[in-house]
Amino acid sequence: MAKLSKKENAILEAILNDPFISQAKIATDLNLARSTIAVQISQLIDKGHLAGRGYILPKSQKVVCIGGIAFNRKYSLRTPPVLGTSNPAISTKSYGGVIRNIAENMARMDVDVCLISIIGNDESGKELRSQIRNLGVDTSQISISNDKPTAEYIAIFDDKNELVMGIASMDILDQITPSLIEESWSSIRSSDWVILDCNLPKETIEKILEIKENANFMVAVDTVSVSKAKRLPSNLSQIDILFTNKDEAISVLGLDDNLKTYKLDEITTQLRSTGAKGVVLTDGPNGHLVNIGNEAFTSPAISSNVKNVSGAGDAFVAGFISTIRSGSTVREASNMGAALSALTVESHLDVRQDLNNKLLSEYLISKKIIKEHL
Ligand SMILES: Nc1ncnc2c1ncn2[C@@H]1O[C@H](COP(=O)(O)OP(=O)(O)OP(=O)(O)O)[C@@H](O)[C@H]1O
Ligand SMILES: [Mg+2]
Repeated sequence: MAKLSKKENAILEAILNDPFISQAKIATDLNLARSTIAVQISQLIDKGHLAGRGYILPKSQKVVCIGGIAFNRKYSLRTPPVLGTSNPAISTKSYGGVIRNIAENMARMDVDVCLISIIGNDESGKELRSQIRNLGVDTSQISISNDKPTAEYIAIFDDKNELVMGIASMDILDQITPSLIEESWSSIRSSDWVILDCNLPKETIEKILEIKENANFMVAVDTVSVSKAKRLPSNLSQIDILFTNKDEAISVLGLDDNLKTYKLDEITTQLRSTGAKGVVLTDGPNGHLVNIGNEAFTSPAISSNVKNVSGAGDAFVAGFISTIRSGSTVREASNMGAALSALTVESHLDVRQDLNNKLLSEYLISKKIIKEHL
């Protein structure tokens, strides 16, 4: 949060000592006019140090994740696909949406997370919400649509495990409008980091970035896909860290994607010149490139026994942000992003169900990324 003036600090301290103190009493104690106290208190609310009138103190600093939640169903056909008729299949379900995956990874690392999104008034929505709530995520800001079902992604694989068709039913996510976000304004304001995914409508992304101009939280964005990356504005100056891959970055910059000759560092430099304060460009098994503030370096991926690459990017963001927000260096955050994504590709699922801080630190030690404390 932003630094406070001497006056603001003194008032905040008075409220922390006695949350029921009157404005008149603070004014007398600090030898200031009551009207001054009222103004200063509104500023403390604006800066996110107080959650509202009545001096409600904000909860401990948290990460607010805003974006898409989806119910995934995978159908594996038992026999070669035949169109126009019924095909026998085995089905499995999982929970998805880039921001949901990021939130789940962070919650499993004991980060205080609030998830802002939307579900339908249906069983899959309730299941998604209770699963993430049971992990400790604040789900109070997840809205329920009156007229659209929960977002769904259906993937059909043939008997050789090749994708036959993917079906994305995601219209509900267009209902995460700027006015819906305004209802969650006090949660957003009192956070230290806000992570957005580009499943959000363009106007909503713009609104959050506009609000950020006068607020004190940091913003990270995940571009999600080539088509959704186009929803970002041309000026990225309100973004502290943009997480993207090469194809998505080319899409953000509106470059001709037939020219695949762009080098990763050139793309990153171009993204920085559009205003982004930091860029992390991930490149699958080749690793990633970091360009944040005055630091620029590349880092290889951690060699892994790959079982499923899906969810690697989401895990990377979760590992990176949970580390940088705790005051660690950019290099440490980059190592953690690589480690969590490597652990994720070693699992069959998009989010590791056995993830916790102990597993992570043992992995970092085993890969010689950190030394064991003696
Ligand atoms: N095969 C792999 N082996 C080891 N690490 C990997 C592998 N694939 C991805 N990673 C790790 O995950 C990070 C992110 O992967 P990637 O660049 O594929 O993200 P993405 O394109 O956002 O994918 P998605 O969003 O589908 O997860 C990489 O920088 C790397 O550290
Ligand atoms: Mg990704």
